[in-house]
Amino acid sequence: MSGNASTPREKWGGNIGFILAAAGSAVGLGNIWRFPFITGQNGGGAFVLIYVLCVLLVGLPIMICETTVGRWAQSDPIGAFGKIEPTPGRRTRTVAVLLFLSAAALLFCRHYGQGAILMILSVTLAVKGWRIIGYFSALVPMVILSYYGTVGGWTIAFFFKGLAHSLNFTTPERAAAVLQSVTEDPRIAVPYQLGFMFLCAATIWFGVRRGIELVSKLLLPLLFLLLVVLIIRSVTLPNSFEGVRFLLRPDFSKLSAEGVLLAAGHAFFSLSVGLGLLTAYGSYLDADKNILTNSLIIVLLDTGIALMAGLAIFPALFSVGMAVDQGPKLVFQIMPIIFNSIGGSFGWFWSSIFFLLLAIAALTSGISLLEVTVCCLVDHFRFKRHGATVLTAVVISAIGVLCTISLDDWSRLPALQRAITFLFGGAKGSMFDLADKLSSNYLLPIGGLVISLFVGWVWGTDNVVRQLPANPATGDDAPKPPLAERIFWGIAIRFVAPAAIIIVFLHTIGWL
Ligand code: TRP
Repeated sequence: MSGNASTPREKWGGNIGFILAAAGSAVGLGNIWRFPFITGQNGGGAFVLIYVLCVLLVGLPIMICETTVGRWAQSDPIGAFGKIEPTPGRRTRTVAVLLFLSAAALLFCRHYGQGAILMILSVTLAVKGWRIIGYFSALVPMVILSYYGTVGGWTIAFFFKGLAHSLNFTTPERAAAVLQSVTEDPRIAVPYQLGFMFLCAATIWFGVRRGIELVSKLLLPLLFLLLVVLIIRSVTLPNSFEGVRFLLRPDFSKLSAEGVLLAAGHAFFSLSVGLGLLTAYGSYLDADKNILTNSLIIVLLDTGIALMAGLAIFPALFSVGMAVDQGPKLVFQIMPIIFNSIGGSFGWFWSSIFFLLLAIAALTSGISLLEVTVCCLVDHFRFKRHGATVLTAVVISAIGVLCTISLDDWSRLPALQRAITFLFGGAKGSMFDLADKLSSNYLLPIGGLVISLFVGWVWGTDNVVRQLPANPATGDDAPKPPLAERIFWGIAIRFVAPAAIIIVFLHTIGWL
């Protein structure tokens, strides 16, 4: 079911377009908002080192699985994974039984929501085969984007607040009040969120080349430039070297087991793997492009930009003598305070630049999340791109508005609260927290696990290795790739990546 017979499949205009679009997806709130605050909470250098190892050992192999399948199949994730094994074979049924048993265990332990999700997954796997990874790809981005859009809206709101000189506070109390005035007032948060969703949808409307590629080509270099400006400002402050040292010098006494697992989970989120997003993006890639080099460049850009964000934030933080372990409010509350105390009357200017940066990063990632679902609707369900874009954006916005409203006050949505509490426990969590936790603690690791198992054991790592270079040889008589490469990727994809994910997963549900 790949593509419409009448029109040829749309392709990236060039290699740079693909790299910037994939990097635009990877570089997001994960890099500039989440990475700095979890690094701050986990002691700096040692955490950064472990994170980089996780990116290379787990993130990169799965990224390569997703991209090679997409380019090989030239189809949306549903069609692509279905093409590898059209009807479920023996290995597939074995996996389905194992998943079913895990689901039963979860239900038994009263994790009803998670158990139900895994149960549905195992049954569809047995009936429909590995196409379920594709259905997963179509549905999970909707969960992520619904709360991602909430935060995306805040970044835009803060950008305008910066321009309007409303971020001129210098005390944590004022900072908290300003953040609350945005996050807890739906009359402000919802319009900004819808604005964010509109910008994403407008980009997807114009398609792969004139939409995603164009926007990424314009915005990613701008993001890079803004970041360099901020770093220069930050490291030239008095006493800033402490911050550089915090980020780059490993001190293993500060690292906990918890920190190691957090680093692994964050590697997925930050690289945008676990969803089949790169299967969609890889399917727009021509045969004459080298997937290995491209993936290495994307990984380098994503990790590099996370480190650069750290370099922009920590030296300034140390320079003004503020605590590094502030948690999620780090960038929204602390950055304006820093800018105001170092930038004098230009504080508003630096704050605006910073939140513009954050908004750009969020936008290019939001675009990619929307595209996965649209790609599945267009290829598999034969929607027109424009119709699919509008439908998906409206549905996600509707769920997203619930996330935003639930942050403020559950009493507006009591029935929803009861349902969610029954399914997923945790009465204090809002719908926003649920979408966040569910996707990064459960859905992405499950997706990554299923993809690495399927690609490694059913499609076979030889097929992956064959797809890595430009102009890959295909067909039954294609020569076997070099032994060293087969062994390296075989071990990485079949064993290392799945094992690491299982450990992380068991930890997040509290069994380890
Ligand atoms: N990588 C993005 C970030 O760091 C988030 C993201 C965008 C994502 N698309 C994704 C995460 C697909 C998982 C899958 O903010």
